Amino acid sequence: VTLTYDQLPYDSFPVPHSHPDALSAIARLFGLRPADVPTCRVLELGCGTGANLVPMAAAFPKARFVGVDLSPVQIDQGRVEARASGASNLELVAADLTTWAAPAAEPFDFVIAHGVFSWVPREVQEALLAQVKKSLAPQGVAYVSYSALPGDHPRQALREMLGWSVRGVSDPKEKVARARHFAGVLGRHLPDRAPGSAALRRFVAEVGAMSDSYVLHDLLADTHEAISLTSFARRAQAHGLSYLGDAQLHAMFAGDLEEEVVEALRASATDQASFEEGMDLFTQRPFRTSLLCHAEAPVRRDLSWDRLEDLHLSTLAQARGQEDGHWLFRAPGGQVFGSPDPLVGSMLTQLVHHRPAPVPFAELCDLARAQVDGAKATAADREILGMNLLAALGAGQVTAGTCDRSIRADAGGEKPVAALASARRQAASQGWATNLWHQRVDLDPDQRRLLPLLDGTRSRAALVAEAKENELWLEAHLASLAELAFLVSNP
Ligand SMILES: C[S@@+](CC[C@H](N)C(=O)[O-])C[C@H]1O[C@@H](n2cnc3c(N)ncnc32)[C@H](O)[C@@H]1O
Repeated sequence: VTLTYDQLPYDSFPVPHSHPDALSAIARLFGLRPADVPTCRVLELGCGTGANLVPMAAAFPKARFVGVDLSPVQIDQGRVEARASGASNLELVAADLTTWAAPAAEPFDFVIAHGVFSWVPREVQEALLAQVKKSLAPQGVAYVSYSALPGDHPRQALREMLGWSVRGVSDPKEKVARARHFAGVLGRHLPDRAPGSAALRRFVAEVGAMSDSYVLHDLLADTHEAISLTSFARRAQAHGLSYLGDAQLHAMFAGDLEEEVVEALRASATDQASFEEGMDLFTQRPFRTSLLCHAEAPVRRDLSWDRLEDLHLSTLAQARGQEDGHWLFRAPGGQVFGSPDPLVGSMLTQLVHHRPAPVPFAELCDLARAQVDGAKATAADREILGMNLLAALGAGQVTAGTCDRSIRADAGGEKPVAALASARRQAASQGWATNLWHQRVDLDPDQRRLLPLLDGTRSRAALVAEAKENELWLEAHLASLAELAFLVSNP
């Protein structure tokens, strides 16, 4: 394993729903009290080049981050990035997670293992769960993602076919080239009469757009094992861990599944995990992002709106205006949602108005009520808005966090600051950067030029001069960077 990841490092990206702030919000919704994110301790197992950890460490300088990966080449790359981003609170360790001894002094509040579990042999999977159990704080949360059954089956068929085409080849580049060629032949000649050929053709067509590292480490991986959610939960249970929920809340709720489907699922499901696995059958979900906690942690399964009291809410949706008495919004995936209730409509409008900045729950309720009639929110308002927010969180229309990130919604300030330090460095060296929502954002050439200059030392006039542009150029690109959640209020 080390050898292939050393020869061709994995293209790692930030994973927004593995961010401690997102994990902490979900934990609180389920009644847990994990440590405060700004001073928490985070461990990532199989962290690759640290693309997930470096921006987190840059965002929370008083929190502590440790990443462990078997590949020294990837760890070295990560260390270069961490140093250049000033992330001295991140320690990257080249070690085998099966033998690595976590520092005994303090447990970790959040443990992350993304894209590892399904790609390692059984004994490493077991060691990973044992590490989670051993290193997790009493009310901590672990995020473990894996290929899910049955949705992974068509992709597994593709893995087997491409694996056949590279038999006996050991050079990674040669393997990728052969697999790509074979995928092309399959795409052109898979006969219609072959069972499942339509699904396979769709997957084969995607190979062309995949990076070499993804083809090698996912499609041609020596080890790959998909697992169903309930089997995963049972395996975790054997280590004294419980299934808490999914990092993507909407994977836990029926959402827009038809009533007949939901009834059938309720009739056969025996617990939350089996209900969600039932949904996986209908949606053919190929990947799960499961959260685990200690079996003895005081989890509350009854979602109650009052647990929103200390959360901050935000949305990625756009407002679509009012139609037939409904306030309508469009989620980034195109899904349209809304409400006929003016109070709920104005709450969603306020979230859109403040985006990309998150708004604390109580403030959001006051803003919503004030927009309707200038008054302050009552207890009844908070309950109505809280219930609606829970539904919106479950539908993936709204996201929750736990701390004030000082994200600016506008491009103001005499000396504009773009965070994170890691993003300013990324912009200067590659085509994308990680924003304050921990998303990978592709940048245009102007944004790539401007972002590295926004370290808070330059006035607007100095920025215009240094970029050799005019004020209009500066304002337009500052505004676009603000909208993409890169700008922070001056400290
Ligand atoms: C598919 S990559 C995922 C990397 C990263 N988490 C991401 O999502 O981009 C799997 C990673 O697990 C690491 N790995 C595999 N076996 C390991 C072990 N026994 N101990 C530590 N890391 C391991 C590999 O080196 C590789 O970086």
